[in-house]
Amino acid sequence: MNNLPQHVSIIMDGNGRWAKARGKERVYGHMEGAESVRACLEYAVEIGLPYLSLYAFSEENWNRPPVEVNALMALMLKFIRQEFSNLMEHRVRFMALGNRRRLSKEVNAAIDDLMEASAGNQGTTLIVFLSYSGQWDVLQAMKKAAAELSPEAFQAMEAKDFSGYLVTAGIPDPDLLIRTSGELRISNYLLWQCAYSEFYFTDVLWPDFRRPQFQEALDAYANRDRRYGKVK
Ligand code: IPE
Ligand code: IPE
Ligand code: MG
Repeated sequence: MNNLPQHVSIIMDGNGRWAKARGKERVYGHMEGAESVRACLEYAVEIGLPYLSLYAFSEENWNRPPVEVNALMALMLKFIRQEFSNLMEHRVRFMALGNRRRLSKEVNAAIDDLMEASAGNQGTTLIVFLSYSGQWDVLQAMKKAAAELSPEAFQAMEAKDFSGYLVTAGIPDPDLLIRTSGELRISNYLLWQCAYSEFYFTDVLWPDFRRPQFQEALDAYANRDRRYGKVK
């Protein structure tokens, strides 16, 4: 595959509408969405994509009804437990990034177990953004930098130095950002890290976003002309 991006990030949106269209509860859409995660990860591993990241739960999503929040957390736990050996077998390195303090002990423990077990894996890195928001990330980075650096070093900080304080430290910025379900917004996702990402919006709802749709997005990316402000 030519022009394969290094890092593809996906705002997985439209689960609720997918379920509603079928006269079902929203959680049914989330369950089907988990199948799309499996399909896209499988494809990413197959093509040797270095980084796949997924926006699974935003800081704002805590404002949803408790039954939905609980269902999403339960699905997350189930996914980690069910996929544990499969991820290890395919040498996937797993990371969950976000405001971990808001997650339950149980979810945090499952995340820690998988992160530790898979830390040395050399295949695709799967990053799940959980309880994440871009503004929260920039703020926590600023506070960490201010606490660690002398006033002089803080003043001398450059963009690449600041990146090292974000939760994505060491991870390349997304080359391609996909959002499903037709919404044309970033919803407080990777604000700093998407400075030069290529955006791909599709009307397809997340539970319907599988291998062919992923491939279509990668094909679109392959034809993009990235100029970074320069003249070509
Ligand atoms: C995305 O689907 C999943 C999460 C945000 C957790 P939604 O639940 O936002 O589905 P819609 O947008 O209501 O259709
Ligand atoms: C964005 O989707 C967050 C995730 C996909 C996890 P939302 O459905 O929460 O976004 P808004 O509310 O439509 O902006
Ligand atoms: Mg939504």
